Amino acid sequence: MLIDHIDFAELYRQQMRLAQRTEKTPEHWDLRAEKMATRSDAPENSYLQQLLAKIDLHGAQTLFDMGCGPGTVALELADKLREVYGVDYSPGMLAVAARRAQERAIKNVHWVKRAWEDPWDDLPQCDIAVASRSTLVADIRQAMVRLNRMARLRVYSTHMASSSFVPPSILRALGREVVELPDYIYALNVLYQMGIQARVDFIRGQCEYRQDTSTFELFEENMRWHLGGLDDDERQRLYRWYQRYDASALAPARRDWALIYWDSVPEERLR
Ligand SMILES: C[S@@+](CC[C@H](N)C(=O)[O-])C[C@H]1O[C@@H](n2cnc3c(N)ncnc32)[C@H](O)[C@@H]1O
Repeated sequence: MLIDHIDFAELYRQQMRLAQRTEKTPEHWDLRAEKMATRSDAPENSYLQQLLAKIDLHGAQTLFDMGCGPGTVALELADKLREVYGVDYSPGMLAVAARRAQERAIKNVHWVKRAWEDPWDDLPQCDIAVASRSTLVADIRQAMVRLNRMARLRVYSTHMASSSFVPPSILRALGREVVELPDYIYALNVLYQMGIQARVDFIRGQCEYRQDTSTFELFEENMRWHLGGLDDDERQRLYRWYQRYDASALAPARRDWALIYWDSVPEERLR
């Protein structure tokens, strides 16, 4: 088989299905907003520092931040730009983002409630488009086309570099098949097939999303969030697993991210 015969966008959809990614709703994210804001504020947040160091704002006055969460990227770059759009489908995230903007007296960020899948026709094209850790979407091709369209100059998107959010050892203990979520290689290949020669860098992290394992209840709550619920049998298996292993074994290994970035390409030149 030749590589041109592989439909990477379809493969991505397949892997999403096999990995049993449970659909996350805006309400899911609402509940995470405060915690995420605290984490992104931490000075040792090396993910954010590494990402910011890669974003070239040369010649840029406006920024479109898709899946902005609590304003992680938008707020950091606002003082270097004229206008920033922070876009997310979670009202909870947007509320936390707006509050943080107010606390910092930042007035040039517009918070927009919108999903990756909604129409974007009324959103303004910006010089730079960013999607930070928000690219685990149902349709990766559509997401890449849209980011490219929103950017006049450059696009920066980060994707999982490896591993699922839940350690494979836990999935096995629950009796679930281990299929990892699709990682960055799909997006890179989809871009390639669209005629976009993107660059890739890696952001190496300490694990920011370390599970809170201080009590079984907290640990279970976290697992339920990631796995979209647990049945009774799975809960018991998780409990046995929790009792058998020490807390440090529960922490997933480092989370690394792939930064995929490119100079935006006019739509008529896309394949
Ligand atoms: C892991 S957070 C990342 C937040 C921020 N960009 C960062 O890097 O800290 C993922 C964000 O994507 C948003 N999100 C997830 N799926 C989305 C969708 N389909 N449409 C719009 N936003 C979505 C969530 O609400 C959440 O705020």
